[in-house]
Amino acid sequence: MKPGTRRDRLAAETLLAEALASTGEGEPQQLQLSRHLRRLGNPALALEAQGLFELRRRARRKLAGSDRIFLSAKGLEQSSSLAVAAWRAARVNALTAPHMPLVDLTCGIGSDAAALAAGGRPVLALDRDPETVLLASLNLERLVGPGALAVRADASRPPLRSEVLLMLDADRRPEGRRELDPERWAPAWSAVLATIARAPGACIKLAPAVEVDTLDATLPSDLPRRWSWVGLGRELVEVVLWTGQLAPSDAPPFEALVLERDGTLRGEVAGDAWARNLATPLTAAEVEACAFIVEPHAAVVRSGLIGALCPQLGVSPLGPRLAFLGGREPVPHPLARRWRVLASCAADRRRVRAMLREADVGPIEVFTRGHPTPPEKLAKSLRGPGHCPGVVLIARLAEGHRAFLVEEA
Ligand SMILES: C[S@@+](CC[C@H](N)C(=O)[O-])C[C@H]1O[C@@H](n2cnc3c(N)ncnc32)[C@H](O)[C@@H]1O
Repeated sequence: MKPGTRRDRLAAETLLAEALASTGEGEPQQLQLSRHLRRLGNPALALEAQGLFELRRRARRKLAGSDRIFLSAKGLEQSSSLAVAAWRAARVNALTAPHMPLVDLTCGIGSDAAALAAGGRPVLALDRDPETVLLASLNLERLVGPGALAVRADASRPPLRSEVLLMLDADRRPEGRRELDPERWAPAWSAVLATIARAPGACIKLAPAVEVDTLDATLPSDLPRRWSWVGLGRELVEVVLWTGQLAPSDAPPFEALVLERDGTLRGEVAGDAWARNLATPLTAAEVEACAFIVEPHAAVVRSGLIGALCPQLGVSPLGPRLAFLGGREPVPHPLARRWRVLASCAADRRRVRAMLREADVGPIEVFTRGHPTPPEKLAKSLRGPGHCPGVVLIARLAEGHRAFLVEEA
């Protein structure tokens, strides 16, 4: 089916609202809904209404208020979750004057643009895809009002006349596959670099696995920049590059932070270049004396800020460049999971099973750092003969792999 016009979209929404109002208890809502829509005698509109219902349902977890917005499957997949978009907007608002206009060069369905405009900032949202612009336009009208406008434009030739802040979230799957090479993103990195570098401030959303050092090397050396690794719940969801006014000179250039699902800040770690990847591992004797093992959030691990976290917690890596940290009495930290060590041994099958037998442990969950075998496979092969469930961490140390029977502290 061809994507609907603005009128079709609104008509489908009205139809959906009517159909939903007529659903009752008992039979699943989806079945009642499709039967009701089929009866209407306009199959194209019914299909559009059904599609909107499905997409809004799928969007619920990511975009609170999804029952009011217009979506496409790709737009939903690529949109920023409300929690992260709100955090991003709060930072922009904290660092710049509220009336300073902002252009979102690649707005998608408008999640970031809506959050950035929510405080009254004038926002122009661009996207090269006409269907996506229509969705963004409907969403901005509804969520923000006249202060935000969506228009079709190519971000590699943006219609910018005055000094505006920029937001960029390129399509990193333009052919449907994840692209790691920034030149294959849409728009290509080199096509927007000069625009970003000229702007008074820019916020660039990137994939969690992006090669930060490679991208950083492409920026003009005198451009102020700050890199953020952003976690949501247990996941690392994105990397953000801030430039110009959005990277103030008194803020450390690297930070890892984690948001709760409701958008509140769980915690953060920040540091300078020296604090990245700089942490001296423990000796074998010190590893044996560890009462706790600390597992930093993926945002801290990917950012390389373990070196900044370790002194705050009183821990050090168990092995060279290893993201399991050990200590005698580590300080609790919102970006680190703490495990109390109950026993440990060399990670060979016979010794591990003996350690588990001693503790009456049977089925185990395994977490590894620096071990080639998948944890699920190890959980099967190392399972103990006892009755209680347990957790085993396996770490690659300078002297070989070691297994730790632990419990969450
Ligand atoms: C990752 S999505 C943006 C999602 C958005 N930040 C949100 O939260 O909803 C990237 C968007 O860039 C658009 N795009 C790709 N190349 C573009 C270009 N050269 N100019 C403008 N938009 C472009 C795509 O159509 C897509 O909608």
